[in-house]
Amino acid sequence: MQPNEVVLPAGWSLECLPSVDSTNEAVKRRVLETGKDRLIIQADQQTAGRGRRGRPWKSAAGNLFFSLAVKAGNISRLGEYSFLSALSLTLAVEEICPRVSVKCKWPNDVLLNGKKMSGILLETTGKKGIEFLISGIGVNIFPVSEEGMLYPVTSLAQEGCTTDKSEMLSAIVRHFDRLDKLREEEGFLPVLDLWKSRAYGLGGMITVNLPDRRLTGTFSGLDNDGSLLLNNADGEHKITAGDVFFGVQGN
Ligand code: BTN
Repeated sequence: MQPNEVVLPAGWSLECLPSVDSTNEAVKRRVLETGKDRLIIQADQQTAGRGRRGRPWKSAAGNLFFSLAVKAGNISRLGEYSFLSALSLTLAVEEICPRVSVKCKWPNDVLLNGKKMSGILLETTGKKGIEFLISGIGVNIFPVSEEGMLYPVTSLAQEGCTTDKSEMLSAIVRHFDRLDKLREEEGFLPVLDLWKSRAYGLGGMITVNLPDRRLTGTFSGLDNDGSLLLNNADGEHKITAGDVFFGVQGN
């Protein structure tokens, strides 16, 4: 990808690399060296792409892999960027692929026609009291192997949407920048409301796998900090992290 094909909002910069271990690791190294805010690293392929909970992320050439770093003021509210990142990607897909059904899956997955088309890995890094939020995003523009995947997967191409890495990256970062400004000016709730209006499975039955147990109940809503609210016979459960499956899953 040529950097000059990508259109970025003011204040952002982009480095494009042919291959890295993980764009999250690469951008962390760069911001620790340079202290640069709003830096994006995109790579054509990753040799050690990572997913949530230490899972690998298959990163063959052709798909979009990038990580952006922003200086984060309030480290206790970094979870907000989980929703902001997923919403940015959702809005980019809505814009580029208007005929595809795109929904947000808690906490930060994006589903095309009910299947996972992307992954987002949020991390932090910093030194001397300056913290950076790292949002690493992988987008399946073209099909990926389903082998070993936790959820059904798809790609933009499989759902009939034609785009390229530059167009998708430009749109995601444009929405991210705009939503981040909205969050700074009006707080997190307007961002969360936009996410909720696109939520997959709200009001339906879900199963959430937690580290120590599995909960099944109704996906009743989100708390103001973005925690998932699940209601069942035991009452309301507020969940901050877990793998969500739709419907009632067996043991
Ligand atoms: C997940 O769904 O488990 C999250 C996957 C995140 C993958 C992206 S690809 C770009 C960035 N670099 C990584 O090593 N991971 C993220």
